[in-house]
Amino acid sequence: MNRFIVFEGIDGSGKSTQIKLLEQKLKQYSISFSTFREPGGNLLSEKIREILLDKDISICDESELMLFLAARGQNTEEGILKELSQGKFVICDRYSDSSMAYQGFGKELDKDFINSCNKFVTKGITPSITVILDISRNVSKNRDDSENDRMENNSNTFFMKVEEGYRKIAKAYPNRYLLIDGSLNIEQIHNLIWSKFKKEFDL
Ligand code: ADP
Ligand code: TYD
Repeated sequence: MNRFIVFEGIDGSGKSTQIKLLEQKLKQYSISFSTFREPGGNLLSEKIREILLDKDISICDESELMLFLAARGQNTEEGILKELSQGKFVICDRYSDSSMAYQGFGKELDKDFINSCNKFVTKGITPSITVILDISRNVSKNRDDSENDRMENNSNTFFMKVEEGYRKIAKAYPNRYLLIDGSLNIEQIHNLIWSKFKKEFDL
């Protein structure tokens, strides 16, 4: 078993907020950890991120998938694997399931192909816990008035398919996924995550 915890959910679902609270808790318990984000985490992946989120660049669905995967491959090789192999806890803001939810369910690209590519770039690492914050885009976009990036410019229909995709992913592996109603308050969500964390890692 690895010590890998991933946060998933649509844009503005509360991932960063919950990651910060989990980080504070781990510090209180003197547990060492590293945090990564996707796309990002190193020079190459941060540059790919800039391209992917730039609303002035036109990117077809196939190229979009490949860029997310390239960013993941580098993040895994350069960051995540190294930390996990030293026995550290690793928290990641998005990972393989984002490609399945956004490009697989949202953009309707071939899911088997995405699965194979995810296995290839992650070298088969599977998170111990994946928290999915389940919320509708109509609610999450009202929480944030910053300008939309290229991905956030996708339609409401697209986001509904992504939301449904996340629910399907969670249902397929109920032991590994913690599907949480993202409209609960911040503290309630944190308590659910911390309970699962303590149980999983025997704290
Ligand atoms: P993400 O990282 O998923 O994009 P954030 O954590 O940045 O989401 O949250 C987006 C916005 O919603 C922030 O302004 C944050 O303070 C607010 N927020 C996060 N969680 C909740 C919650 N459970 N209820 C209400 N507002 C929230
Ligand atoms: P980011 O700002 O990190 O997400 P959030 O708005 O939730 O804080 O933006 C990353 C965007 O890229 C987000 O819209 C989700 C999308 N994405 C994919 O479509 N596929 C992927 O594989 C990943 C990792 C992200």
